[in-house]
Amino acid sequence: MNKIAVMTSGGDSPGMNACIRAVVRTAAFYNKEVVGIKRGYQGMIDNDIIPLSVKDVANIIQYGGTILKTARSKDFHTKEGRLKAFHNLQSAGVEGLVCIGGNGTYTGAEIFYNEFGIPSVGAPGTIDNDLYGTDYTIGFDTAANTALDAIDRIRDTADSHNRVFFIEVMGRDSGFLALYAGIAGGAEGILVPEIFTDYEGLRQHFNNPERRIKDFSIIVVAEGDTEGNAFEVADKFKLEFNQADVRVSVLGHIQRGGKPSVNDRILASRLGSSAVECLLNGVKNSCVGVVNNDIIITPYNEAINKSKSIDKNLWRLSQILSS
Ligand code: F6P
Repeated sequence: MNKIAVMTSGGDSPGMNACIRAVVRTAAFYNKEVVGIKRGYQGMIDNDIIPLSVKDVANIIQYGGTILKTARSKDFHTKEGRLKAFHNLQSAGVEGLVCIGGNGTYTGAEIFYNEFGIPSVGAPGTIDNDLYGTDYTIGFDTAANTALDAIDRIRDTADSHNRVFFIEVMGRDSGFLALYAGIAGGAEGILVPEIFTDYEGLRQHFNNPERRIKDFSIIVVAEGDTEGNAFEVADKFKLEFNQADVRVSVLGHIQRGGKPSVNDRILASRLGSSAVECLLNGVKNSCVGVVNNDIIITPYNEAINKSKSIDKNLWRLSQILSS
């Protein structure tokens, strides 16, 4: 294998640039050439492919976002789109792919491999941390710290006004961000999609005035919680606790940007570098991850179909500390 293409796809996450850099520098170490595909699968279809040298990835490790841009491509869902993409990769002489992204990225890569046989290795890039086959995804640590910083600031004003704040963090289908930022931010309640009884727990807590020692409260809600988003949960809460002075704050895309943390830069560097070494060693149709601090390889099929469950011990801790 002499030429590798790298792309970022799906929602961006801080550390993607560090991962691109690691791919390019590792390939150069083995005297292999790298091209970058812009805007993920859409750029593959549109033939938006650029050379990527070591010089091109200088001075990017500290930036959030992705120099290759990203997209969620509808055209890649069609056979016609994928055929176009395959022809473009063939003309560019691409023999292997590194796909940085989340579940949708892996799904596209698996279909593409099964249809056209171009070997690919995925690296987990999403702030949601919801990918099987890795303890942490690239961007999660930075996003959790960004959410925590916001929670700390809101806590000041919540305290001054004796208010109950419902703070919504990202996480369409998962509560990792909510759980981590919630515990670290000393939240009195944490609502995550994985636990169905979390709202009931919150109700019981507020119905027990002896257990509440503060006059203000921080409740962290994952955007995909089964009770609804933060506004919906807050409305429900207000019906029962109508004396409470309630406010809602949705952190939104602020969690997706910003300079990557130490942990994310190291994780991204390890995974980008391993992805290249995997390709050169004949690994295909699989993704890399870090489990118990070791690099592991998981077939796409398994990573896509198995779900990573929330850490039950951390959840229990959150209950103990907020009760
Ligand atoms: O998957 C990452 C994520 O940030 C989710 O937490 C969120 O629901 C979604 O992307 C938002 O996507 P978009 O940027 O397309 O609105």
